[in-house]
Amino acid sequence: MKNAEKLNIARSLRDFEEAIGLIPGGVLGARKPSDFIAGEYPIFLESGKGGRLIDVDGNEYIDFLCGYGPIILGYREEEVDEAVIRQIRDKGFCFTLTQRYQNQLAKKLKELVPCSEMSIFLKTGSDATTAAIRIARAYTNRIKVMRCGYHGWHDWCVEMRGGIPEKLYEDVHEFHYNNLPQLEELMARYGRETAAIIMTPFGHALHQKMEEPGPGFLEGVREIANKYGAVLVYDEVRTCFRLALGGAQEHYGVTPDLAVLGKGMANGYAISVVTGKADVMMAAAQKLFISSTFFPNSDGYVAALKTIEIIERDHVIDAIWEKGGRFLKKIQSIIDKYNVGAELSGVAPMFFITFKKQQSGVHKARRDEFYTQLIRRGIFFTPHHHSYICYRHTEKDLETAAKAIDESMAYINEKYPG
Ligand SMILES: Cc1ncc(COP(=O)(O)O)c(C=O)c1O
Repeated sequence: MKNAEKLNIARSLRDFEEAIGLIPGGVLGARKPSDFIAGEYPIFLESGKGGRLIDVDGNEYIDFLCGYGPIILGYREEEVDEAVIRQIRDKGFCFTLTQRYQNQLAKKLKELVPCSEMSIFLKTGSDATTAAIRIARAYTNRIKVMRCGYHGWHDWCVEMRGGIPEKLYEDVHEFHYNNLPQLEELMARYGRETAAIIMTPFGHALHQKMEEPGPGFLEGVREIANKYGAVLVYDEVRTCFRLALGGAQEHYGVTPDLAVLGKGMANGYAISVVTGKADVMMAAAQKLFISSTFFPNSDGYVAALKTIEIIERDHVIDAIWEKGGRFLKKIQSIIDKYNVGAELSGVAPMFFITFKKQQSGVHKARRDEFYTQLIRRGIFFTPHHHSYICYRHTEKDLETAAKAIDESMAYINEKYPG
């Protein structure tokens, strides 16, 4: 199999050089070149439409990152954008007082999400996970938190702890997905001091294979939370509106006390939610101050209402499961042809291709070469984060991607044979 030609990303690299003098690190967080494969992936994008992106050098990609999750329908989804544009042009979106969309959206969530009785709307996933923890602490009058998964960049949960006083995270304990004994042990020690157990209900730890809940895992966590009187919070920032309209809690049939929703809800517009049982949520009204100048801005609410309307009307989630399911079957049959330690994990709406760890470290070489070959072939997956299927990925997009996966696997199979 031939080595695909390296992309011309000269403009991206020039812009990045300039950015380094203007923005610490050039670009923030998980958009840094080192989070992809430096020198191979573009750094700046120009535009997107449907399931495709164009970078500043004019290279086109079929994109499976979907903006790191919020693009559930597709880029520049006209109905959603038009609804927001109409709002901005005809009524306005930033006012002294709240517009009524909050009631409409809260009612819609109550209808769709099993735990939802009351909601608070914010802007980012990190806003919402932090608010959920504060609510749980206020409701229980306890401090400790058990956590499982990525919950954003705020002081209590970020992995890189530079600039954060130790006391802000010393009451936060981590457990691993599908490891119930570990949580039991922690709770046996700290259960009576624990305000919240916050977890992603579907396992998608950083750089790791994705995991569905093992038999009894979610039920077991629910029981432990009940036993010790801790608030169970599902971080459904990635899973709500993807696994099901009502999130992983609907899909797996275990209901938390609170849930945090964000990506996927408004097709890219900024809005996030803490939603849940009324008695717990009421702590927010009675004991807390949760406020931002921008929380009531209605662009996100309008986008969310329209996105949810389209998801329901066009059976978007069924369509994603259906075409994603077929795509995953194809990927698995490709992986089975080659002895390179590749592994496919996840479910149709969100999945990941990783490489089995080997002492020799060859898995890293295979991984980097595989993803290099893919990006050179115009397929935007990344080595460090799982992928998503969006509604606008066409059969042709998925066929093209499957062919590129086959060729890239064949290439590494020749270069790093098993
Ligand atoms: C599960 C989960 N929780 C919370 C967050 C934080 O959301 P945001 O990046 O919008 O602050 C993310 C973002 O990737 C996430 O995936």
